[in-house]
Amino acid sequence: MKFFIDTANLNDIREAYNLGVLDGVTTNPSLMAKEGISGKENIMKHYKAICDIVDDEVSAEVIATDYEGIIKEGQELAAIDPKIVVKVPMIKDGLKAIKYFADHNIRTNCTLVFTAGQALLAAKAGATFVSPFIGRLDDVATDGLQLIEQIRLIYDNYGFETQILAASVRHTMHLIKCAEIGADVVTCPLNVITSLLQHPLTDIGLAKFLADHKKANG
Ligand code: E4P
Repeated sequence: MKFFIDTANLNDIREAYNLGVLDGVTTNPSLMAKEGISGKENIMKHYKAICDIVDDEVSAEVIATDYEGIIKEGQELAAIDPKIVVKVPMIKDGLKAIKYFADHNIRTNCTLVFTAGQALLAAKAGATFVSPFIGRLDDVATDGLQLIEQIRLIYDNYGFETQILAASVRHTMHLIKCAEIGADVVTCPLNVITSLLQHPLTDIGLAKFLADHKKANG
C-alpha cells in the first residue's frame, strides 16, 4: 500500500519523506489556501517545490469546472513536472476530461468521490487514481470504509487498473482498515502516519531495556 501525505505544507512533506515511507502527496485548493499560497504563479511554484521533495505522484487540483478549462489547466499543471498527477472533480465535464487525459498519457486523480457508481465511472474513463473521501462520509453518518470495500470488489470483478486512493483519512484505524480491505493508496496528514509509530508498551519496554543496561553497565 502506498502512503501519500495530504498537505501542501513543505515541512510536513519533508518530514514524512525523511521517514522513508512516503510515496506521494495530495493537495487540494483548501490545503493550498491553508498555507497562504495564492495567485497562479505562486501556486505553480509551490507545486514545483513539492515535486522537488518527493519521488513521484503529486496531485495538483484543477479549479476549472468546464471541459475546456479543465483540459487547459490540467495540461499546464502536468507541464510543471513529470511527477504531477492532475486532480479532477467527479463532475460530468471532469469525467470527460479524465478520458481526454488518459488518451494523452496524463495521469489523473478523480476526487470528491462518494459512491461506488462515481468510482465505476472514474475507472471506465481511465482515471489513474480514484479518491473516495472516508472521513467526510463518516461525518454524515455513512460508513466511509464500506465504500472502499465496495469499490475494491467492483474493481477486482472487472480488473480495473484505477488505483483506490483512500482520502479524507482522519486516524490510524481508518488507515489500518484500508490496508485490510486492500486500498492501493492512503492519503492522510503527517500526524496519522507518525501515530502509527506509537504504542505505550513500546515506550515502557524501551525504558526498561535502557534502565537494565545502565544497571549492568554502570
Ligand atoms: C485528498 O485528496 C482530499 O482532498 C483530502 O483527503 C480531503 O480530506 P478532508 O476531508 O480531511 O478535508
